[in-house]
Amino acid sequence: MAKYQITLIEKMSCILTTCFLLSIVLSTHAEFVKKTYIIHMDQSAKPDIFSSHQEWYSSKVKSVLSKSVEAEIDSSEEERIIYSYNTAFHGMAAKLSTEEAKKLESEAGVVAIFPDTKYQLHTTRSPYFLGLEPIQNTNRSWSEKLANHDVIVGVLDTGIWPESESFIDTGLKPVPSHWKGACETGRGFRKHHCNKKIVGARIFYHGYEAATGRIDEQADYKSPRDQDGHGTHTAATVAGSPVHGANLLGYAYGTARGMAPGARIAAYKVCWTGGCFSSDILSAVDTAVADGVDVLSISLGGGVSSYSHDSLSVASFGAMERGVFVSCSAGNSGPDPVSLTNVSPWITTVGASTMDRDFPADVSLGNGRKFSGASIYKGKSVLSVRKQYPLVYMGSNSSSPDPRSLCLEGTLDSRTVTGKIVICDRGISPRVQKGQVVKNAGGVGMILTNTAANGEELVADCHLLPAVAVGEKEGKDIKQYVLTTKKATATLAFHNTRLGIRPSPIVAAFSSRGPSLLTLEILKPDIVAPGVNILAAWSGLTGPSSLPIDHRRVKFNILSGTSMSCPHVSGIAAMIKAKHPEWSPAAIKSAIMTTAYVHDNTIKPLRDASSAEFSTPYDHGAGHINPRKALDPGLLYDIEPQDYFEFLCTKKLSPSELVVFSKNSNRNCKHTLASASDLNYPAISVVIPAKPTNFASTIHRTVTNVGPAVSKYHVIVTPFKGAVVKVEPDTLNFTRKYQKLSYKISFKVTSRQSEPEFGGLVWKDRLHKVRSPIVITYMPPM
Ligand SMILES: *[C@@H]1O[C@H](CO)[C@@H](O)[C@H](O)[C@H]1NC(C)=O
Ligand SMILES: *[C@@H]1O[C@H](CO)[C@@H](O)[C@H](O)[C@H]1NC(C)=O
Ligand SMILES: *[C@@H]1O[C@H](CO)[C@@H](O)[C@H](O)[C@H]1NC(C)=O
Repeated sequence: MAKYQITLIEKMSCILTTCFLLSIVLSTHAEFVKKTYIIHMDQSAKPDIFSSHQEWYSSKVKSVLSKSVEAEIDSSEEERIIYSYNTAFHGMAAKLSTEEAKKLESEAGVVAIFPDTKYQLHTTRSPYFLGLEPIQNTNRSWSEKLANHDVIVGVLDTGIWPESESFIDTGLKPVPSHWKGACETGRGFRKHHCNKKIVGARIFYHGYEAATGRIDEQADYKSPRDQDGHGTHTAATVAGSPVHGANLLGYAYGTARGMAPGARIAAYKVCWTGGCFSSDILSAVDTAVADGVDVLSISLGGGVSSYSHDSLSVASFGAMERGVFVSCSAGNSGPDPVSLTNVSPWITTVGASTMDRDFPADVSLGNGRKFSGASIYKGKSVLSVRKQYPLVYMGSNSSSPDPRSLCLEGTLDSRTVTGKIVICDRGISPRVQKGQVVKNAGGVGMILTNTAANGEELVADCHLLPAVAVGEKEGKDIKQYVLTTKKATATLAFHNTRLGIRPSPIVAAFSSRGPSLLTLEILKPDIVAPGVNILAAWSGLTGPSSLPIDHRRVKFNILSGTSMSCPHVSGIAAMIKAKHPEWSPAAIKSAIMTTAYVHDNTIKPLRDASSAEFSTPYDHGAGHINPRKALDPGLLYDIEPQDYFEFLCTKKLSPSELVVFSKNSNRNCKHTLASASDLNYPAISVVIPAKPTNFASTIHRTVTNVGPAVSKYHVIVTPFKGAVVKVEPDTLNFTRKYQKLSYKISFKVTSRQSEPEFGGLVWKDRLHKVRSPIVITYMPPM
């Protein structure tokens, strides 16, 4: 526990520092400097004299406008309001001075005011690896047939590249009748770019423009067209149509397809060259829910502050109430503990893991030793495998100065690197950028070595010069050779694509880790899915390395990140929704979590790439997604919107913070949950307080039978060192479909442990294994 505790405190103070800094900025800003604020309104407080909420919002803003000359000239209240939100969220985004924001905060009907904040964007073998596809099958597969349905997935991202073959709509039925969305047009994006696959496309930029100035329409496409590539990649991973012979420069050759090739895509562009803003993200979620999306795929994250201050948390609560499944990326801040974003229990938080595919490359040293690494380099300037090239390393074998600052822009002298292979450590600047710095300085190749944080995890990049990524151990050995050899030499060799890698999957080193900063009783992340070296469709405006200097154009690109794992889960959720349209978002999430596996393809427990040790539920949540099983989970842990609200009631939110979620004021705390652990979550996490020594507690769960009407389940619980865990009853006998049965889990502490303990609970019948991870956290004595 000690390790996690310390980090919790560190993160907390860092968040407090941010808040602190923010408030200083707010109060020292000139009176007339306007910023965007997101204003939560209590809808039910609208006086009858206003015919619409918009009218009421305008009047509220008008009442607080500064009576300065400037204010009268430049801004009517209409110009001040950049969004009004009506579906998943109630309120507006408005440009206000600090003074005005303060005044508005005390107005009746105003629930809360937050400054707009910036979010960050946090890709084929994955269908086969996930068991969705026989490897050689020209017929439409069962999953494709299943997926030709009316499910629509909204993707909040950088837009979409509509010409990609992944978005061809051949064979799809007409646009579902429940769809109320639109196809917004603009530069490079016309009505015909929407089709039966891309059923909607919209842009959200008012918050971005308010913060950064007008979008430069020469540099950026102020339309749903995706310049960056990230949005095209994620959308294609969710629901791309099958494309045969997809590859990146010959690597990863095969059929590329999304998880739910029959589902439809609606692209909501919220990210621009300079970032993504919460006021735009909120408007996109609000609009998408009104448009009729069934699933939202959001590969974005900001900081974690609180349930009520995080716009994405609040907006996704509204989406969940309307039956929309929301999946979000966990973040790429691993392997540090407590590094997750998007931790609200109504969000499905997705971490990243590897597949059984590699892009091997070798480093051969002058002393005859050979090291294996990874690369997706393909270009004219291949190095000869028969020749040796001078090898240099600018660092020393001591750890200071910071080796990660090697190979940053302007740090390499062409006199020392021309014609040589250069060793660079990962970190600080993008990996492909370091390659470019070496190339610009005249280097002929690069060996990119992992730091301790990356361990042995190999992320393949589309470098502009011959480059091989190697693990931390290999890196150390190669550096040692250079530092101890007068004329060190090496050469690099590239071996394309290798399949069947064991062990796999492995939790990616970069995947953000639990526990959740906000609630130890809700285990996060929820699940891991493929997020390392993923091939999917790409923008025609950006090279595969994303560097401006990269003039190569490719139809598919290979990317890594939890941004890539999130759309895998979104697509699988769409498949489940297609098969079971009546299931709630919580039921879909339960099906995904309770069928996940926690063993790799060597039948050993899942491992963590950063340490090569076994991973824990703080790394992998319920485990690795298993889509075939998720379609038939046997039992479900369902959660109603009111139950999530009751969860918030246990969190001691202030009345005004609760109003953010209760909106129409028809939700009240009924105190049906004794503690956060009692939420009917598919994972179980209990916190043992420091006292009394022999602490005992009981939590409750209810399962719904979605398997055969007559089903008999019995329970299996892993043993724990520090507590006796008992389940009552230990058998569940169902006699009808959708029947609900409850059970109790009691925890009795016998010997306190210094670290959290991990295990699991499985309900088993002849056909199903319904597994929940269990985490027991022992609080240290004060
Ligand atoms: C495709 O389906 C047809 C008809 O069901 C069958 O005869 C054929 O063998 C299948 N081909 C493959 C490659 O599975
Ligand atoms: C650095 O290299 C020198 C020369 O091989 C060696 O004597 C020394 O022990 C190394 N130091 C570390 C910290 O590895
Ligand atoms: C379920 O049925 C079994 C016999 O098939 C019985 O032993 C068990 O007590 C029953 N469980 C409950 C909770 O009724």
